Amino acid sequence: MIQIGLLGCGTVGSGVVKLLEKNASTIAQRSGDEIVIRRVMERDVEKCLALGIDPQSITSNFQDIIDDPEIDIVVELMGGIEPAADYILQAMRHGKHVVTANKDLIAVKGKELFETAEEHQVDFYFEASVGGGIPIVYPLKQSLAGNQIQQVIGILNGTTNYILTKMSREGLDYQQVLEEAQALGYAEADPTADVSGLDAARKIAILSSIAFNSRITLNDVYVEGITGITAEDIRYARELGFVIKLLAIAKEDESGRIQIRVHPAFLPVNHPLAAVNDVFNAVFVQGDAVGEIMHFGRGAGQMPTASAVVGDIIEIVRNLNHHTNGRIGCTCYEQKPILSIDELEVEYYIRMTVTDRPGVLAGIASVFGNNDVSIATVLQKSSDDDLAELIMITHRVREKGLRDALAILSGMSIVGEINSVIRLEGTQRVKA
Ligand code: NDP
Ligand code: HSE
Repeated sequence: MIQIGLLGCGTVGSGVVKLLEKNASTIAQRSGDEIVIRRVMERDVEKCLALGIDPQSITSNFQDIIDDPEIDIVVELMGGIEPAADYILQAMRHGKHVVTANKDLIAVKGKELFETAEEHQVDFYFEASVGGGIPIVYPLKQSLAGNQIQQVIGILNGTTNYILTKMSREGLDYQQVLEEAQALGYAEADPTADVSGLDAARKIAILSSIAFNSRITLNDVYVEGITGITAEDIRYARELGFVIKLLAIAKEDESGRIQIRVHPAFLPVNHPLAAVNDVFNAVFVQGDAVGEIMHFGRGAGQMPTASAVVGDIIEIVRNLNHHTNGRIGCTCYEQKPILSIDELEVEYYIRMTVTDRPGVLAGIASVFGNNDVSIATVLQKSSDDDLAELIMITHRVREKGLRDALAILSGMSIVGEINSVIRLEGTQRVKA
């Protein structure tokens, strides 16, 4: 029998308790052992009692878990950085294997956690930390380990994907959709981490570290959220053959530099990720041998996330039965340079309001030209009083040049407002 110490019996913790009970027989067959929850550390005892957990097994004191020699695996589902980090490290130092879903923690303290796991030869698994129920961490470490990974692009946040999908389908503005999503419980009361792109940034930091064998932390990720996206941008995107998605992008260039960024992007409608709607997540991976693959599913929720946690537990039990723990440790064996956002070269969508009179377009084009920004498409969408709305798509240009040009333009009297600047993604793939 393999015994578990569960830290946190909230949404995901409760799901793990339910799943281990519901599929107990299958799980025992597959793992080779009966898996039992020996202790649960939880502030709110009622949550545990509602699941039928023996009151004797409930504690509010971590020492009861760490001191229990019968506990082989600690499953951390409390969330947050501290005390979760301290508890995980203590568990490892006591020779206990650890499963967590805590992306906040891994994205900032991954190095220390992996080093401690390695030092104590324990397993440290975290499949649920990225993409909820979608298998992606383990496939990158195992099934795709023979590839040089060229890019990982994800829709890694369900809340923002739901908001953008609804804005797109119903032509509504961001604020309106956010409020509806909060009322329906799809968005949290405080949605800051989701809408600012921070949640997706944590997840792509984790995935890119595995994909490129290089320690990438949250601080390395360039982040923009979706709060500036308007119904107009979504409408123009559609007219031009794109959808707007919050993408988490990690790529390695030919010289071994890593691009790592989260921002809204224009994505061609025929890109596989363009069809990922509502709260669904997906991860698109390109490897030199496998080519393009996409993992799709529910990126959050009680049972999908519990599915990933229980999968990790089963893997550890298999390792225990074969004395193979510590087999798959940290895969970051080199440190690759991070490309600064100024050096990024992509295509851009720009929407601006300008004075509608002869010579204005030429004046704007000359500022772009002087900064090496080449325009591919210009549309004048509306003319109201003396103002016109200009929609431009650039060729591939350097971000620094574009920012310099926009800084000059925003100070010119002929420019009313630079409304939106959104990067394009996936156009190379479609052109090829
Ligand atoms: P919840 O807030 O629902 O559950 C956490 C539980 O842990 C709560 O019951 C909380 O009690 C308890 N807890 C927190 N700190 C302590 C402590 N010091 N001592 C005792 N009990 C404590 O969170 P979730 O289940 O949603 O998330 C858990 C983890 O899974 C997080 O890392 C999250 O990022 C991750 N995750 C969650 C997903 C989801 O769909 N929910 C998806 C993917 C990952 P109290 O409520 O009293 O504070
Ligand atoms: N808040 C996240 C989302 C789920 O909206 O996708 C937990 O990672």
